Amino acid sequence: MSLRLVIDELLSEHGVLTSELKDIQKIINEVKHEEPKTKEEKFSFLKPLTDLFGKTNLFISKFRVHEIKEERFIFPEMAERGKESLVHRLLDDHRRIDELLENMRRLLEDYRFERVTAPDLARQMIKAHEEITRIVVEHIKIEDEEFPKLK
Ligand SMILES: [Fe+2]
Ligand SMILES: [Fe+2]
Repeated sequence: MSLRLVIDELLSEHGVLTSELKDIQKIINEVKHEEPKTKEEKFSFLKPLTDLFGKTNLFISKFRVHEIKEERFIFPEMAERGKESLVHRLLDDHRRIDELLENMRRLLEDYRFERVTAPDLARQMIKAHEEITRIVVEHIKIEDEEFPKLK
């Protein structure tokens, strides 16, 4: 497989990943911010947050497969052409996204053991998700500019 083909594949994956991320963002509108009282309220409080985590988790699994190809084929090529510091920044983004997903998982666990209140859970889950979105969007923007230069 030539470098050009790998780049084309990665760039087209960026399009798919970006639109999936936008879809996941819609869940945020369903998140409630008040402490739930009844069983039903507790269920409808937790539902969008577990969906947000579940869909972000699936998204990041896909993103990791995408990252493997970049880290194996593209980043060494960029580094060879004098872009070492940019490569380090992109690698940091890949790691940071994993950390934020782990934060979301831990927050849900903390809620289960009543170590965090419902409004705090909602606020912090959304914050972590927005941070993931911000990093991914900016990251893809840089890669979309840089990858075609290698062709
Ligand atoms: Fe990347
Ligand atoms: Fe990428």
